Amino acid sequence: MEIKLMLNGREVTASIQADTLLIDFLRARGCLSVKRGCETSNCGLCTVLLDGTPVLSCSVLAARADGHSIQTLEGLQEEAAEFVTFIADQGAEQCGFCNPGFVMNTIALLRENPNPTDDEIRAYLAGNLCRCSGYEGQLRGIRAYLNQRNQG
Ligand code: FES
Ligand code: FES
Repeated sequence: MEIKLMLNGREVTASIQADTLLIDFLRARGCLSVKRGCETSNCGLCTVLLDGTPVLSCSVLAARADGHSIQTLEGLQEEAAEFVTFIADQGAEQCGFCNPGFVMNTIALLRENPNPTDDEIRAYLAGNLCRCSGYEGQLRGIRAYLNQRNQG
């Protein structure tokens, strides 16, 4: 079957199998930030944005992207750069394997809720399970970013 979508702002037309997973479709097109972890909808490593909403690409068929917009971290570098240094400043950056999913979920959170409470941050990021460095450092980093942004 043929699908047409916007991938990181560019129109893509592709011929796929009906059972092709979105994660495989994206990685085959160079979006290697999309990582394969649990493959059971539990870890959040494979998170991408479908029309701006985070989805687990290990559990979505590529066919579902037909006619829609997909964003991966490759297409969101500027938006991510706004806050990742604040997280690094807390010594809370994650490894390259699980960090992309965390960053994607943080971007989605801040778009949906520009001024989240600490509990709202925790709740939104709870689906990103690979957190060797803990949860509090990421929370402090996002809070520091929000504080500085709100102070203008
Ligand atoms: S690989 Fe998709 S949720 Fe873990
Ligand atoms: S696997 Fe990436 S920080 Fe734990």
